[in-house]
Amino acid sequence: MGRALKRVVYDERDIAAKVAELGQAIGKAYPDGDLLVLGLLKGSFIFLSDLVRQIHRPLQVDFLVASSYGDNTFSSGNVRLLYDPETELEGKDILLVEDIVDTGRTLTRLMELLKARNPRSLEICALLHKHLATELKYPVKFTGFDAPNEFLVGYGLDHAENFRHIPYIASLQ
Ligand code: IMP
Ligand code: MG
Repeated sequence: MGRALKRVVYDERDIAAKVAELGQAIGKAYPDGDLLVLGLLKGSFIFLSDLVRQIHRPLQVDFLVASSYGDNTFSSGNVRLLYDPETELEGKDILLVEDIVDTGRTLTRLMELLKARNPRSLEICALLHKHLATELKYPVKFTGFDAPNEFLVGYGLDHAENFRHIPYIASLQ
């Protein structure tokens, strides 16, 4: 599987407790309205599936796939959607779900693109936040863990597409 794991940073119990906490907070923050939980693929797929089962109110689920261009393309201001949600965004409360915020570049571009679709509200939920997000122009409303500045894998997060299936979050050697 490529590189070796160094240490377990968040185990399955840590994650389950945090996801339940996030689900509760999200449920409270949206007492009414049409809530659309938008998962950013691929990294959020496991987190999102656990999270929505902890939000005890009506909601819809859809996904986004953003193009993974190199830094130059991102800093030139374009993020392209390889999969654009079919769900109508206008007038809805949109919760964009991301696995981890690093520089915040991806999220900033996506937020701008989604805002243009006139949702009722638009917020970010990230399982992990490295707080190095110098380029993030939008606050992350719901954060799971303040992550250490290490490369993390598992629970959806990958290194070269490996390790996504590991049920806990670990750092790499
Ligand atoms: P940003 O645009 O720099 O915030 O990058 C965010 C994206 O980079 C995330 O959605 C992840 O796909 C990836 N990423 C950043 N840090 C890590 C990490 O520690 N492990 C795995 N993927 C990461
Ligand atoms: Mg990713």
